[in-house]
Amino acid sequence: MIMNNEEIEVEPGLSSRMDGFEAPETIVMSMRARTLMAEGKKVISLALGQPDFLTPKIAIEGGYQAALEGKTKYPPIDGFLSLKQAIQKKFKEENNLDYALDEIMVANGAKQILFNAMMATLNPGDEVIIPAPYWASYPIMVQFLGGKPVHVICPEYNNFVLKAGQLEAVITSRTKWLILNSPSNPTGAVWSKEDLLAVGEVLKANPHIWVFADEIYEHLIFDGQHHYSLAALVPELKNRILTANGVSKTFAMPGWRIGYAGGVRRLIKAMMKIQSNSTSGACGVSQEAATAALQYAQKDIELMKLAYDQRRKKMTAVFSAMAGISCNIPQGAFYIYPGIAECIGKKTAQGRLIKNDQDFSEALLEEAYVAVVPGSSFGLSPYLRISYAADDAVLDEACQRIIEFVQNLV
Ligand SMILES: Cc1ncc(COP(=O)(O)O)c(C=O)c1O
Repeated sequence: MIMNNEEIEVEPGLSSRMDGFEAPETIVMSMRARTLMAEGKKVISLALGQPDFLTPKIAIEGGYQAALEGKTKYPPIDGFLSLKQAIQKKFKEENNLDYALDEIMVANGAKQILFNAMMATLNPGDEVIIPAPYWASYPIMVQFLGGKPVHVICPEYNNFVLKAGQLEAVITSRTKWLILNSPSNPTGAVWSKEDLLAVGEVLKANPHIWVFADEIYEHLIFDGQHHYSLAALVPELKNRILTANGVSKTFAMPGWRIGYAGGVRRLIKAMMKIQSNSTSGACGVSQEAATAALQYAQKDIELMKLAYDQRRKKMTAVFSAMAGISCNIPQGAFYIYPGIAECIGKKTAQGRLIKNDQDFSEALLEEAYVAVVPGSSFGLSPYLRISYAADDAVLDEACQRIIEFVQNLV
């Protein structure tokens, strides 16, 4: 290790930007799980946020045909016209949002949409309001690009949802973005129409703020809840909202790396400049697969949603009945976010002291071979994020092991 002139520790040969950047805990837990598996342990990983379903056949065929037809050249920076037209139709029909074609862009996942947007707008020290618990990539990306994440804790008694008063209290002249993610990773929380309208009022009074509306889990929504796009609900804000989405979760296509966004022309144009000088656009074969998914895979969505809903009910029933664990009932996404406050200070069967949710997760992995992610990775402890994007038998076995692990705490 060497120190640069600002007393920041950096690895030789790496930029100071890299200092303090750790791999997200989701990846760390999955890597640990893989190491244990390689040692022959029967590990169950509920740590990663990806669907266990196969990509719909119609999408695979769309990609395959595109490859055979030679759609393997560099794609247009903003995406194929056919995909953009499918996205335009989707925004109109599902979200009641009118975007012109040059207000839409395609990227390598919603993650690159986020990167493009932050890279195109953040100046050093600009503040980005991030309701916690949050998807871990938000603050990392903001920091990476010189911005300052401003976390606002959204407690369980508010269903992990940001309230307008909380937003108002943290806005400054340096606030550049508010990030909204409904349904939410990691909690599965869904913002109600009333909550969004109230937040919208605060934003109306603060015209210097952009909103990153991450709607990637919009189709995974249960209990008759409705997904509202803020840009449609509060049209006065539409020109300041970037509506981000993608096919990774809805269509079980995380490896195809297709995300997209609708937003005001000048922002999309700036984001395209970033993209043209970084990745040149998204894989053409994947774009064709995504087009087919958006056009023809509606039935697949319904079937997956049904399965997720059944698993959600099972998981919340099991965790709500577990002594020492509290379990909020999520209304979206494919995660539960149980609280483990009563387990803190106890010892495991093998004598490990549980001081926090990280200790709990590590012990659960080492002793019961179940990988989950501690709430500390998402900005709110002591909780666990447990993904139920796994088949029933796997979930049953995982629940059994967790029940035994918790019962054995003393
Ligand atoms: C809330 C949220 N937004 C965006 C993404 C990124 O999705 P993509 O695969 O499209 O990059 C994820 C993936 O985990 C997510 O949970």
